[in-house]
Amino acid sequence: MSLVTGKKILDKALSGHYAIGAFNVHNMETVQAVVNVAIEERAPLIIQTSASTIKYAGAKFLAANVKAAAEDADIPIALHLDHATTYQQVVECIRVGYTSVMIDGSKLPYDENVALTKKVVELAHYAGVSVEAELGKVGGTEDDISVDEREATFTVPEEAVKFIEDTGVDYLAVAIGTAHGVYKGEPKLDFERLKKIRSMVNVPLVLHGASGVPDEGLRNAVVCGINKINLATDLKIPMARTIRDIFMANPDEDDPRKYLGAARDAVEVVVRDKIRVIGCNGKAIVE
Ligand code: 13P
Repeated sequence: MSLVTGKKILDKALSGHYAIGAFNVHNMETVQAVVNVAIEERAPLIIQTSASTIKYAGAKFLAANVKAAAEDADIPIALHLDHATTYQQVVECIRVGYTSVMIDGSKLPYDENVALTKKVVELAHYAGVSVEAELGKVGGTEDDISVDEREATFTVPEEAVKFIEDTGVDYLAVAIGTAHGVYKGEPKLDFERLKKIRSMVNVPLVLHGASGVPDEGLRNAVVCGINKINLATDLKIPMARTIRDIFMANPDEDDPRKYLGAARDAVEVVVRDKIRVIGCNGKAIVE
């Protein structure tokens, strides 16, 4: 199938009261791992790349990998730009076929966040691409974007309503206590705040920093209204561990198919587990 927009997948999740796994990929092997498992689990899929992964691999190259994997897949797949901070990054990705983009103006004052998001929405909608934005600040580190824990601020429900009206954004990332990267202690999610936001807005809601959140927390987030769950670190860790173990056992290993193939298998295990915990398995309906 050709790629579909994030909105197409997420509006169904919103009306069906479920969530989709949005997995960050970095190379061919991670693209294959998430697509293989999503097909087997009959799960709609959002594949995302951060702006710094694009700097590393090139948007064209990443898009080509994802399009090739999606072509033979009979499940809906969207390709999403994660945490763009500039208009130029959005333009670059739309040009090469991304079907969903996030513009992250969460570090900006409200009015500037609105202005930047609105500008991206105008362009993206003209190109038939859907848009995610963030209100409140999710803490932690995602590649080269860091938010100090003391600076992280939770999303204010009333402000979320206004922000969606002011920008026309298709889905909204909310800050409710998760953080990007590895947690020092157990994250405490503000489910009451999430329920309140859910009751006041009518667009899909996104949870960033889902790695390290216990299964029960992820399930609860879905029950309270989350429709897109972003996972990066939980895929990176087993990948790195697998490659490290191979070289520890055999320092002379020089066949990339051996260590990258094993890493792909390790990523598949965690993706399957997350899809089942989130509960999007069996939701892919071919039209
Ligand atoms: P984690 O690395 O904590 O899973 O966060 C991923 C994310 O939110 C990507 O936007």
